[in-house]
Amino acid sequence: MGRLIAISNRTAVDPKARAGGLAVAVWESLKATGGVWFGWSGDITENEHRVLHGHYDDGVEFLLTDLTQEEHDGYYLNYANRVIWPVFHYRIDLAWFNRDAFTTYAAVNQRFARQIAPRLQDGDIVWVHDYHFMLMADALRHAGWAGPTGFFLHIPFPAPEVFRALPEHHWIARALCAYDVIGFQAERDRYNFVQYLIDDCGAEDLGDGHVKVFDRTTTVKAYPIGIDAEGFHAAAHSELADEAAERIGRFLGGREFVIGVDRMDYSKGLPERFEAVGRLFDNFPDTRGKVSVTQITPPSRSKVEEYQELRVELDQLAGRINGDYGDLDWIPLRYLARSYQREELAGLFRIARVGLVTPLRDGMNLVCKEFVMAQDEEDPGVLILSEFAGAAEQLQAALIVNPHDTDNVAEAIHAALNMSLEERQNRWRRLEKVIREQDIGWWREQFLKDLSPGGVN
Ligand code: G6P
Repeated sequence: MGRLIAISNRTAVDPKARAGGLAVAVWESLKATGGVWFGWSGDITENEHRVLHGHYDDGVEFLLTDLTQEEHDGYYLNYANRVIWPVFHYRIDLAWFNRDAFTTYAAVNQRFARQIAPRLQDGDIVWVHDYHFMLMADALRHAGWAGPTGFFLHIPFPAPEVFRALPEHHWIARALCAYDVIGFQAERDRYNFVQYLIDDCGAEDLGDGHVKVFDRTTTVKAYPIGIDAEGFHAAAHSELADEAAERIGRFLGGREFVIGVDRMDYSKGLPERFEAVGRLFDNFPDTRGKVSVTQITPPSRSKVEEYQELRVELDQLAGRINGDYGDLDWIPLRYLARSYQREELAGLFRIARVGLVTPLRDGMNLVCKEFVMAQDEEDPGVLILSEFAGAAEQLQAALIVNPHDTDNVAEAIHAALNMSLEERQNRWRRLEKVIREQDIGWWREQFLKDLSPGGVN
């Protein structure tokens, strides 16, 4: 039985930052087993030693390091967020290919590995998270670590043709294969990666999640990430949830409530969603004055130009829609560019009639699972879910839409608003069952069972 060692760029050391998918999921996993979490402190320093700062919380030891300005710009801003992120979300048009940025990305992976390797002990199990550290297993092996090392990708893995647009695709694929277990969110991601390995690297798919490539056998599987289902259900009945529900209730004045909650990112399909809201009021005049849509969108990565441009676009679109459709006593689309606490969101989800989760691409998307768990069984709201979110593989009982087809999304909102109680309950029960059964504990166990049959303590 060994310690669980997590490595990711962003950690949950700041309780306020535990709102992102990765931070919440890894935090829930580590809290259950105890262990160590290595990552970026969130600070930039010019101190060349970049020592690890220690910090304990709830049985988890955080060991964090600062980045230099050059590392931050080359590794985090440019390579991770302006090359890998757009390409893996099928936005080659937004990628800023840059060889120097890759060099810095590789150097940061190696620097972290050199700092982590001497602290690892026999029996430890290393679990690396997300696209910032795809080269970590290879770097750890070079730094002398030979123990079990797994990787989980929280974002989509693109089709081989798209992955090949990355000038470093072969290098990255080879480095990924140094992991013992490579986990993806959805079957479609696993399929894309294995197909690339077969086409470009002469791999042999041995079946049962085993792939023979580069003279070794690696486990490659989908492990759909879950949420703390029971905990989120409880959060929807907390005091903060009640207060938030009451506040928005005063604003709604009896109108039907439609909600969306997404980090401000071009992968989330927000301009398309806003257009779909406009189509709803155009195509279904009975909804005018009767429905209010609230979109909560905390800004993110605001140093990256494409994110700044998105902010401007959303501000303009929301203004236009309210200008076109609004009335003296009705704001059709409320757009709030700020964050709310988990309990507050749970309270808002609980009273919403419709949850809109329509990304153009998403690894999994946990908001849709949270929306379902916050619902009241007696009178549940309806989930509208993009076919391009990883969660669509599990949540077929949602209303599945193509987010590019704004008329189709408008029709789905209208259908959801008019759905019978019986159908709402029927769909909700099927969704809730999967989310409860395949929760965060289930995800952790599935992955760790494959990485370390002996288990962790
Ligand atoms: C996504 C990624 C995470 C990332 C989060 C927030 O969920 O999969 O790795 O931490 O976005 O983005 P940020 O760049 O602020 O860490």
